[in-house]
Amino acid sequence: MTPSASALLDWYAHQRRVLPWRALPGQVADPYAVWLSEIMLQQTTVVTVMPYYERFLKCYPTVQDLAEAPLQDVLALWAGLGYYSRARNLHACAQAVAALGGFPPDVAGLQALPGIGAYTARAVAAIAFGVPVVPVDGNVERITSRLHAEDAPLPGVRRRLDHLATLLNDDPAARAAPSDFAQALFDLGAGLCTPRRPSCLMCPWRSVCRAYASGEPERFPVRAPR
Ligand code: ADE
Repeated sequence: MTPSASALLDWYAHQRRVLPWRALPGQVADPYAVWLSEIMLQQTTVVTVMPYYERFLKCYPTVQDLAEAPLQDVLALWAGLGYYSRARNLHACAQAVAALGGFPPDVAGLQALPGIGAYTARAVAAIAFGVPVVPVDGNVERITSRLHAEDAPLPGVRRRLDHLATLLNDDPAARAAPSDFAQALFDLGAGLCTPRRPSCLMCPWRSVCRAYASGEPERFPVRAPR
């Protein structure tokens, strides 16, 4: 049985987290807000990011404002979030985007910008521009690993991710809502399909999840021996 994208989207419509960078389901978010949040959320939790995100948007409401700010001010506002190369790249990226006149609306264009890797390019493309791609972070890898109850080593993970991309493309409900689909996966991974003690009884994909059927969902993903 394949997971139903609609079941996930229905769950998200009712159970989604309200986060300041999020648009309402079915609406498209501001690329600047999405990009800023995604850079901050690399290596940092949602709870820690929240006040920084609010301060940044207040100081620099647009990507132009951020591009024109002195780097020292940006670094000062970033203080406490760590990984300061992120702040330097953030500033460089804002300048590149301001020079372009806006964020490129596709994965390749986004990934060519400073500090934007494969994951962030896909996240911004899906969430802010509705491009039908799946951004793959640790949460998404865990979900796919459990759906298929397969071991973790990379080739298998790749296959499962292709499967999610196929699901996104084959289900009209998902294809119409790549932004919600991506964010629903984030929420599923952060809220229910957690590394420890997953809340399977509340999961919209429980009936098709092989890890759940195995009785030991926590066993997945199986870590490769070091
Ligand atoms: N983690 C990474 N990106 C996220 C997002 N857009 N919402 C919630 N958690 C996230």
